[in-house]
Amino acid sequence: MRKIRTAVLISGRGSNMAALAQAAKSDSYPADIALVISNIPDALGLDKAKELGVPAKTIDHKQFSDRRAFETALDAALTESDIELVCCAGFMRILTPWFVNRWKNRLLNIHPSLLPKYKGLNTHQRAIDAGDKEHGCTVHYVTAELDGGATILQHALDIEGTDTADSLAQRLLPHEQDLYVEALKKVASEMLSVSRCGK
Ligand code: GRF
Repeated sequence: MRKIRTAVLISGRGSNMAALAQAAKSDSYPADIALVISNIPDALGLDKAKELGVPAKTIDHKQFSDRRAFETALDAALTESDIELVCCAGFMRILTPWFVNRWKNRLLNIHPSLLPKYKGLNTHQRAIDAGDKEHGCTVHYVTAELDGGATILQHALDIEGTDTADSLAQRLLPHEQDLYVEALKKVASEMLSVSRCGK
């Protein structure tokens, strides 16, 4: 079965990337994690990618004069590896409209809140401070508006009275990983059926 060649962009721990790479090992999963790119040279996720046998490289944004030069290198690396779909997973760089438009409808992100609530950072603390009863995570398409693209899948979780930002983040993480695996499956399956119809 043909699989959609997918890259994962990371900046840190890479646990969502590892969940995607693990799921993609199954023959019936419609995506293949063909490349991991980190903008941080010593990101833990790079070691995880190696352990999982996934090609991984660093493109350090600090080595470039501006965002556009960094993104040009990123785009070239993706194109060179024949990447069809890109998943941001804890990738801590804001992407410019130029890059986002080049990868329109082929660029996903996971965000730790029930979007449209709490775009940006510190989502767990903001949900607790607001007295919310539930929190969650969202996989969405990336557009030029930060955390503003169409939702693909969402998972909600009850906030407990004893929750801190850390405990909430910890309890949410396995749900993020499961959600991302499901969302990538959905998007890659749709891409495969569109490409089959086109033939
Ligand atoms: C996740 O909580 C993700 O939602 C957020 O950053 C974290 C990345 O974790 N954007 P990991 O690097 O995938 O372990």
